[in-house]
Amino acid sequence: MSLYNKTILPGSTIGIIGGGQLGRMLALAAKAQGFRIAVLEPTADSPCAQVADVEVIGAYDDREAITKLAAVSDVITYEFENIDAETLRWICEQAYVPQGPALLAITQDRIKEKAAIRQAGVEVAPYEIIESMADLFLKINKVGYPAVLKTARGGYDGKGQLVIKTEHDLAKGEALLEHGACVLEQWIPFEKEISVIVTRKPDGETAIFPVGENIHVENILHQTIVPARISTSLQLRAVEKAKQIADSLGLVGILAVEMFVTEEGTIYINELAPRPHNSGHYSIEACVTSQFEQHIRAICNWPLGSTELLKPVVMVNLLGEHLDKLFEEIPALADWKIHLYGKKEAKLKRKMGHVILLRDSIEEALTEVEASQIWSGVKEKIGG
Ligand SMILES: Nc1ncnc2c1ncn2[C@@H]1O[C@H](COP(=O)(O)OP(=O)(O)O)[C@@H](O)[C@H]1O
Ligand SMILES: [Mg+2]
Repeated sequence: MSLYNKTILPGSTIGIIGGGQLGRMLALAAKAQGFRIAVLEPTADSPCAQVADVEVIGAYDDREAITKLAAVSDVITYEFENIDAETLRWICEQAYVPQGPALLAITQDRIKEKAAIRQAGVEVAPYEIIESMADLFLKINKVGYPAVLKTARGGYDGKGQLVIKTEHDLAKGEALLEHGACVLEQWIPFEKEISVIVTRKPDGETAIFPVGENIHVENILHQTIVPARISTSLQLRAVEKAKQIADSLGLVGILAVEMFVTEEGTIYINELAPRPHNSGHYSIEACVTSQFEQHIRAICNWPLGSTELLKPVVMVNLLGEHLDKLFEEIPALADWKIHLYGKKEAKLKRKMGHVILLRDSIEEALTEVEASQIWSGVKEKIGG
């Protein structure tokens, strides 16, 4: 049996590294079951700290602060993947961290991540590792145009990426390479983007959420539609791939698997996230068990819950620029589940919350979303 199968009971404290919205929703789910929450975040009154029992203020690599977090926590998890891997390895020696150090080290580095996906026997878009401009000029010929150059580390919401359409774009790669090694990927003219969220326990028990169809606008997730509008056989293949990756990684806890589906029905894995994922927020109301509760169950060694979908659902993100219209419309939105994260400043493109519409059909939900003024101007940008 693994070292990571300690059962954590209500009344115990779950320590979360990272105080953003994912930490907040993890905390809310855990508190429903009677857990206490401690959170580590550099700034006070973070979205998670607002609902936590203990707030530790400190940088994610501040060992003194982490020691404080560990001192009050029975189990530790994290809500984002850019914690220093060495620091996490160190915490794993001081405290009970059932996810272990390896998963984060792999998923925070696109080079390691792609190798791990291939190791699991699953396909990624053809790619090359790029260490220098000379490398880029040489290897673009292997990958072909269009391609996308991504920093191996630190990117999110499309940051740290450059789409290379012609040789004239190559020079712009220099700015990315300043941050270290990159990957150069073939551009996949996908028909759909989907994601599969898988949770696994130390003994191999696995639960997989229904496949989500994701629509991005300017590289930020805009909508998740479930069930995804793809064939059942494609859905089954996507789920199988996520399971293969989870097993191969010896996953403990939750993992989101982002995928591209081409017109011919080929599935490529885009990237992995070892935490609850924006595209899984629909599960809060639409599934028997939410992705947040499921992760808590996995790390506390409880039986995993049913991931059954109760109704067709559409999740739409609320960015800073959407809040004014939302507040105007709230008095008329009886059956919209509105989630806001408690962030103080509504900055442009900042994720402030999301809405969830459970309806008898996807079409019905989408029609209602379209009739709202909240996202006016977004439609023209879909796919952009
Ligand atoms: N190789 C690719 N082919 C086509 N589209 C891509 C490719 N890589 C990224 N994209 C688009 O850019 C988005 C963001 O890229 P991703 O690698 O997921 O980075 P992030 O960490 O910002 O989520 C993807 O969801 C997809 O829409
Ligand atoms: Mg992504």
